[in-house]
Amino acid sequence: MQQRKLGKSGLRVSAVGLGCMGMSEFYGGADERESICVIHRALDIGVTFLDTADMYGRGENEMLVGRAIADRRDQVTLATKFGFVRGEGQHREICGTPRHVKNACDASLQRLGLDTIDLYYQHRVDPNVPIEETVGAMKELVEAGKVRYLGLSEAGVETMRKACSIHPITALQTEYSLWSRDPEDGILDTCRELGIGFVAYSPLGRGFLTGRFKSVDDLDQDDWRRQNPRFQGENFQKNLDLVKKVETLAAQKGVSAAQLALSWLMHCGDDVVTIPGTRSIRRLEENAGAVDVKLTQDDLRELDEVAPKGVAVGTRYPEQYMGQVGR
Ligand SMILES: NC(=O)c1ccc[n+]([C@@H]2O[C@H](COP(=O)([O-])OP(=O)(O)OC[C@H]3O[C@@H](n4cnc5c(N)ncnc54)[C@H](OP(=O)(O)O)[C@@H]3O)[C@@H](O)[C@H]2O)c1
Repeated sequence: MQQRKLGKSGLRVSAVGLGCMGMSEFYGGADERESICVIHRALDIGVTFLDTADMYGRGENEMLVGRAIADRRDQVTLATKFGFVRGEGQHREICGTPRHVKNACDASLQRLGLDTIDLYYQHRVDPNVPIEETVGAMKELVEAGKVRYLGLSEAGVETMRKACSIHPITALQTEYSLWSRDPEDGILDTCRELGIGFVAYSPLGRGFLTGRFKSVDDLDQDDWRRQNPRFQGENFQKNLDLVKKVETLAAQKGVSAAQLALSWLMHCGDDVVTIPGTRSIRRLEENAGAVDVKLTQDDLRELDEVAPKGVAVGTRYPEQYMGQVGR
């Protein structure tokens, strides 16, 4: 597996990582035993950059990942996140106070069964706490040896600048894919200017870009994607047009749509890494294979034509959450 450096920090991670979120929540039922097998297979084939967060499954996901890596800690680059405080159902608050940063980190370490988190992200910027205070507390975690590198998720340009004035930021994790190209509007440029690596989450458009879903009925009743505007009603049908075109290009190259979508991201710069999520060994191996897919300038131009910025119909989060991204 190819390794990539995240920004100027020196942290090297597998170009394709593994998003573990869906193993505990949001995308329908999952089998813990199978999920652990997926994580073990990932490590065996060099997919060693694992992504979790304290809010996934209300801590369950960190515990699952912790169990999976207990006897393989040295093979893993472990990333987790803090910042959402969950209430009833899907209700959540954002908290970036120094006190919360410290408590959340201790709780994550305990659930993961680790002494150190490799990469610790703020999941969403708290508008009520200056970023300097939040990152100041994160810096203290580095000084205490609890965390090795710091990251932000869905932060805006000014926030990144202020954060870097307190402590180097190793990675920005933000949604980026063929149907979510917002980072091209200044975010990627700012990351490069500040020496921040880029981690593309939901790189398969939450599965949509793989061509696997033909109708909303393909999703479990409790699947979070039913609340995502891109998966709803007419939007779903219109977005299928994009997927059909991606599938056609992929077939011409003899690869899967998922591999084409991931390869496109890795061609956006050697500072971009992807963390596709899966609960299946077959799909994990397929996704890892994307590192070997070479795209020509013609391929990239064709992809630009079929998936220009703004091509997706519908926002990438329900309206009430859109204010939480990019600030
Ligand atoms: N920072 C943030 O705010 C944030 C937000 C969302 C996600 N994330 C992180 O990013 C990771 C990845 O994002 P994501 O899981 O939302 O979306 P994704 O990686 O774009 O897509 C995951 C979905 O695609 C399916 N899939 C994966 N590979 C496939 C393949 N080759 N063929 C067909 N289907 C495939 C998975 O199903 P199966 O499981 O059935 O294979 C799952 O339903 C998450 O696990 C999480 O760690 C971060």
